[in-house]
Amino acid sequence: MKDPDKLSIGGKTLSLFIDSEEIKRRVNLLAQRLENDFKGRNPLFLCVLNGAFMFAGDLLRAFHDNCEISFVKLSSYEGENTTGYVKTLIGLNVDVKDRYVIIVEDIVDTGLTMLQLVDQLRKKAPADVKIATLFMKPEKLQHDVEVEYHCFDIPNRFIVGYGLDCDGLYRNLPAIYTMD
Ligand code: IMP
Ligand code: MG
Repeated sequence: MKDPDKLSIGGKTLSLFIDSEEIKRRVNLLAQRLENDFKGRNPLFLCVLNGAFMFAGDLLRAFHDNCEISFVKLSSYEGENTTGYVKTLIGLNVDVKDRYVIIVEDIVDTGLTMLQLVDQLRKKAPADVKIATLFMKPEKLQHDVEVEYHCFDIPNRFIVGYGLDCDGLYRNLPAIYTMD
């Protein structure tokens, strides 16, 4: 019989980790929290491509107040491992001075990507910078970054789907899977 928690795709089998209903529930809760915390402040959501594209789309559709969105494209991972440095593929092209900036990230792992982005933003005199991430791996955090908003804390597993990839694949899946 077919296991509903397994997904066969392109010759690989993935195991369901978090289904799309649960993701939706948590993302909506976060949107409500952000709505309360940034009421009337026209926050600037800064989506970190590529991984956060799906999360940002759902989060912002559930955020019912004025806001703006911009994008940066950063990369620190190759396959399932961090390279230890962050490449900027598309940089910041908006003025963040006096703005309430909410970074929208897919997953905070070692924290290196967020450390560098927050440092870079702070030099441009924003009113505030906060991080909103879908996932966080607390066991792997190595850098001193404050992550105010996180939907899920997960153990040290490599996950894919809902924007997260392994070598470019699986970003299109509507749920989260592990690869083992
Ligand atoms: P950090 O700089 O070590 O915190 O790594 C953060 C980035 O690594 C995220 O934005 C992801 O793009 C990627 N990453 C970390 N863990 C995973 C994972 O389990 N699956 C997919 N990408 C991951
Ligand atoms: Mg990312």
